[in-house]
Order: sequence, then C-alpha cells, then structure tokens
Amino acid sequence: MKIDESNQSLKACKASPKNGRSIAVTGKGGTGKTMLATLMIKVLAESGNGKILAIDADSAVSLPYTLGMRVGKTVSDIRREIIEVPAVKRRIADQHIRTVMTSILGTGKGFDLLIMGRPEEPGCFCAVNELLRYGIDTLIQDYNITIIDGEAGPEQLSRRVLKSIDTLLVVADMSARSLQTANTIVKVARGRGNLKVERTGLIINRFRGKRSAVKKITQEMGLEILGYIPEDGNVNDYDALGKPLLEVPTESPSLKAVRRVLKQIM
Ligand SMILES: Nc1ncnc2c1ncn2[C@@H]1O[C@H](COP(=O)(O)OP(=O)(O)OP(=O)(O)O)[C@@H](O)[C@H]1O
Ligand SMILES: [Mg+2]
Repeated sequence: MKIDESNQSLKACKASPKNGRSIAVTGKGGTGKTMLATLMIKVLAESGNGKILAIDADSAVSLPYTLGMRVGKTVSDIRREIIEVPAVKRRIADQHIRTVMTSILGTGKGFDLLIMGRPEEPGCFCAVNELLRYGIDTLIQDYNITIIDGEAGPEQLSRRVLKSIDTLLVVADMSARSLQTANTIVKVARGRGNLKVERTGLIINRFRGKRSAVKKITQEMGLEILGYIPEDGNVNDYDALGKPLLEVPTESPSLKAVRRVLKQIM
C-alpha cells in the first residue's frame, strides 16, 4: 500500500495491506501519543483503503474523545462481568470471544473502536486475561490495520493487548528526558521475549530547529527516526476547545506530517 501526501492518492491505491497488521503508539506521558494515533486513524480511514480498528489501550481513556465518540462498554467491563456475574460468565462461555469483542465495538467514520478501560485489579485471573487477549488477537485478524494508543512502555501492550506488533512508534518531544524515556522503551521492546515487535522507530513531535541535532542524539542511542511532526496550532486549538482532533483541517501541518509517517512505515 502506498500512502501519498493527499488522501486522494490514498484512495487511488487499490491494494490493501495484509490483514491483521498492527501499529502501536507509545512514549513518555504527554508527548503526543493520542494525537498521533488519532491522526493516523483519520488518514487511514479517509483513504477508504481497508478496514481500520482503533484500540484505546490507555487506562486513562482519551482516544474516544479525540475521535469524537462516546465511551461505551470496555474490555475491562467484560472482564469484571466474567469474574463477578455468573450468569454473564455462562452467557459469554457460550459465544466465541470474538463475538463478545465485536459486541462492544464503537462505530466511527470509517473505523471501529475498542476501548480497553481500567487496568486489571490485583488477583490472579490469568485465564480470563488470556481469553480476552485471544479475543483481541482474533478480532484484529478481521481488520487490515489496527492502530493502538498505548501507555508509556510496551509492557502494558503485551500484557493486555497483543503479543506481537508490526510497528511500534515511540513518541518523543524535543526534551532530553523524553528522548531518554524513548530510548529506555525501545530497549525494553527489543529485549522482551514475550512481545514480538517487527519494527521500532521514533516519532519526534513538536519538532523545531535542525534535524541534524536530533539525528545526532538518536544515532548515538541507536534509534531510527520514522517521522517529525511540527507544533500545530490547530491541534492545540481543537484540544483546548474540546473539539475532536479527527476533524482538524486537511491542510494542518501535523496531518501532513502524519501522512508522511504512514508513507514511511506502510
Ligand atoms: N504537534 C502538536 N502541536 C500542538 N499541540 C500538540 C501536538 N502534539 C500534541 N499536542 C498537545 O499536547 C497535549 C498532549 O498530547 P496527547 O494527549 O496526544 O499526549 P499523550 O502522549 O497521549 O498524553 P498521555 O500520556 O496523557 O496519554 C495535548 O493537549 C495536545 O493537544
Ligand atoms: Mg494519550
């Protein structure tokens, strides 16, 4: 699949990527993970090229708001019902877990949305967690691309969402601390046996100044940069007014940059 600067050329692109492809977004708090996930969903959904699934894997739940959707039932709600309500447990046991997952999907403009919800409470409910993750894994196979808005670090993704991710995008802003956090996250992602990541790369958000300066630091860290997103007044304004980021104007600098990111990784 080829992604170009405009969605028109995306539309013209006929071949859909293989099913079950996943792109997860992680990085230090407040660096722009949800912004990036939202704009990727927008570009892909508007391209009309394949089925798109969005997963909010952040327990703080913010993706539905930037997508202009309401928060419905979450995976955590199902988990709690299975554990606490015997009648629900029996009902769910009679269905395929993929059917259960499908029943809580939100329908957006050209994509579906799955919300993970709160993290697990303490206690050993490994079988339930395993079942839910299996449900997500099978659900993803019904979609061409899944975009996951995660928390900082890949551990939570592998524990709650997926065991393998095609592309892990680590967002950092221009601060030394966020680059340091990104470096740690990438090392953890590369070193983990139970999370398979095909490609990991950095996205430099709120980029300003010279690329060469950032490149020097990231090269020393051994990190690949997969894109730069500039400070964008539209993103700020939309967030400040509580307007869904999904509706930022087509010509927004951040949106153009996200199209380039997708072109680079698809
Ligand atoms: N390129 C940008 N230009 C302008 N504002 C931005 C940009 N990227 C992010 N922001 C703003 O920065 C804030 C944090 O962004 P966002 O919520 O996407 O970060 P996050 O990493 O998902 O945060 P959290 O860790 O809390 O989930 C938001 O108010 C958003 O509008
Ligand atoms: Mg977020």
